[in-house]
Amino acid sequence: MERIIGDKATDNAIADPKLYADPAAFHALFARLRREEPVRWTQPDDYRPFWTVSRHADIMEVERQPEIFLNDPRLTLQTIETEEAVLRFTGGDSHMIRSLVDMDNPDHRNYRGLTQSWFAPPNLKKLEADIGDLAKMYVDRMAGMNGKCDFANDVAVWYPLRVIMTVLGVPPEDEAFMLKLTQELFGATDPELKREEHSADETSKTVEDFFNYFSAMVEDRRKNPRDDVATVIANATIDGKPLGHLEAISYYIIVATAGHDTTSSTTSGGLLALMENPDQMAKLRANPDLLPGAVDEMIRWSTPVKNFFRTAKSDYMLNGQQIKAGDNLLMCYWSANRDEDAFDKPETFDIERKPNKHLAFGYGPHLCLGQHLAKMEIRTLYKELLSRIEHFELDGTPAFTQANFVSGLKRLPIRYKMAG
Ligand code: HEM
Repeated sequence: MERIIGDKATDNAIADPKLYADPAAFHALFARLRREEPVRWTQPDDYRPFWTVSRHADIMEVERQPEIFLNDPRLTLQTIETEEAVLRFTGGDSHMIRSLVDMDNPDHRNYRGLTQSWFAPPNLKKLEADIGDLAKMYVDRMAGMNGKCDFANDVAVWYPLRVIMTVLGVPPEDEAFMLKLTQELFGATDPELKREEHSADETSKTVEDFFNYFSAMVEDRRKNPRDDVATVIANATIDGKPLGHLEAISYYIIVATAGHDTTSSTTSGGLLALMENPDQMAKLRANPDLLPGAVDEMIRWSTPVKNFFRTAKSDYMLNGQQIKAGDNLLMCYWSANRDEDAFDKPETFDIERKPNKHLAFGYGPHLCLGQHLAKMEIRTLYKELLSRIEHFELDGTPAFTQANFVSGLKRLPIRYKMAG
């Protein structure tokens, strides 16, 4: 079967970081793709070609078959220039790091098993009080800001960072450095968040900084074990052997990075959605028991991880398209989460949505390891926000990051009134 070559403008738009900073334009384009070309051969300028998979059911079909659709070797949407910079940096390997998301079985199963129980709800209970204190601290901070702040930069970015760094064991004085590196890694295409020197090797430099920092941490936790995830990873063994250096450092990097930008984007995206839908805000204030469902809807709505790739190991027919072994498939979660076939009125922000089978945490064996932690964090912060702040409104124009992988609000100016 011939591959149908579509129009170049659409191909370029799918990969363009600017599209992801304009939710209305994104959803208009992907609604069309879901209707007309749900599995579309895509050849943007500057990127290697791939299939764009935009429907909920098709993404689930791919993700539930990890023996056919592999995570290795292509995982995220990067320009050929960036991919070449990675190859230069590593001396020929397409990965700078090798974390859970880069792995397939049997490694994936073994490595994930090391921390799975740490991130499960029973263990997370021990963090509840600390997370509650952090939520309180950030709302106290808002109370001292004269009723105006940039919620994205003043609150949403810091709170999940503090949580995940506490989980990992990074001391508070190093958190600003960690934030800078994460934003560079995920927001590297946004002109406001780039490293100062603009070269194609900039992502490699960020990863190098992470390596230096976490190498010292692995050594420390081997000598001085503590009750943190860093200690679990530093001292773990697989088949009786300690983890390789690359794998141990990569584990730290994924926990550090996957754990906060995503949660902070949802925290801001959720507040914007509540302000834009005052009936939902009122309903939630009137009935705090709706909070867990509201958090799920905030996550569906903002879908901070916009996509991940899989690579076909063998030929496969997906929704009428012949996928060839070696082809890459871009699974577009934000599109899936607005799929008319999977959700009733997907364009409506509905905190009582039931069921809410969104794919913002992915699906299948790679389903987000930190999903329970993320939900607990967001729930805890909103409980505090809604009980102590009686009114929120926009105080300027919100702005989204220009990034085609992990993205969300980079500015959310608000005005608010504390209760009492
Ligand atoms: C709202 C917040 C979050 C969102 C939307 C999110 C989203 C995702 C997505 C889409 C994946 C890939 C799933 C797949 O391929 O099927 C993933 C994987 C992962 N996430 Fe999250 N995440 C969030 C928060 C967190 C937090 C707080 C952590 C803390 C540790 C975390 C750690 C991870 C890890 C380690 C993986 C890799 C799992 C694997 O490959 O087995 N995430 N996440």
